[in-house]
Amino acid sequence: MFIRATVWNDNAIIELLVTLQLESCYIIGVICLGIDFHDEKNKYSYTTRKASDSWVIAVKTLIEVPEVKRAVDIGTGGGIYAKELADLGIPKVTGVDFSESMLDGAKINCKMYNEIEFSVGTAYDTLLPNQYAELMLGRALIHHLDDLAPFFQEAHRILTPGGSLLIQDRTPEDCFLKGDSQHIRGFIFSLFPHLRKIEQKRRYSSTLVKQELEKTGFHSLKEIKIWEEREIYTNKEDLFEDIKARTGRSILHELSDEEILSLVNDIDHSIPDGRITEQDRWTIWKASK
Ligand SMILES: C[S@@+](CC[C@H](N)C(=O)[O-])C[C@H]1O[C@@H](n2cnc3c(N)ncnc32)[C@H](O)[C@@H]1O
Repeated sequence: MFIRATVWNDNAIIELLVTLQLESCYIIGVICLGIDFHDEKNKYSYTTRKASDSWVIAVKTLIEVPEVKRAVDIGTGGGIYAKELADLGIPKVTGVDFSESMLDGAKINCKMYNEIEFSVGTAYDTLLPNQYAELMLGRALIHHLDDLAPFFQEAHRILTPGGSLLIQDRTPEDCFLKGDSQHIRGFIFSLFPHLRKIEQKRRYSSTLVKQELEKTGFHSLKEIKIWEEREIYTNKEDLFEDIKARTGRSILHELSDEEILSLVNDIDHSIPDGRITEQDRWTIWKASK
């Protein structure tokens, strides 16, 4: 029997086998639609931005920064937020990522920062010692994880008693806010409703995040919402170039080049020309050990 199927990751292949009641399959052709963090050509995907003021204000509101001697940025990507943590005055920052390619980009991005070091490790096994840091940040990471519990257990292990975990990600509600000249992401889901299903599947609800944090032993949970400036474009053309390059928006890797062009066309008709300040809505959860 031959079946043509589009799957998004290994789990989706297993789900497909279960649904079709097959024990195994031969995969005769694979087109990878998601971003491959390990691919050398993506190493600068998460190096080109700077955190916005709203992010800095949120972190200062949630954390007693002067009490943090060491911070870990897990899923550091290009090290943008490792740099921000160092700029806040934290004397030692360790950026961890499972992708050596990402870390290659991060090392170049942070080469002026002696207080930052990088190491290879996964969210489930950072390879860092017990009670290593007072603060752990996981930004834009959890939607890439199949299971929150082992990640939160690892965070709990490497935090000092009283240490803080900051998780930042988008919930389905954050993602599906309507598109406008600031919230560009909203256009993606109105034009390609099938992507909602993928997004819904990989984004954790706030209820689940909080439940899992509490189950792991974290307490004093706080949740805030922020709009984070993502990029400023001088005009629509600059924005469209960025969309075509799929920079830092992993969901765009689910679209073909042709679909990307119709997205650009749709946005072109929906927003006025001129300077565009793109913003994304995020949820930040703070939990104490
Ligand atoms: C969307 S990027 C975010 C990068 C950075 N935190 C930021 O906000 O700019 C996600 C990062 O998490 C890393 N990552 C994904 N799954 C991981 C895992 N299981 N363990 C460690 N890192 C992971 C990827 O390699 C990538 O660098």
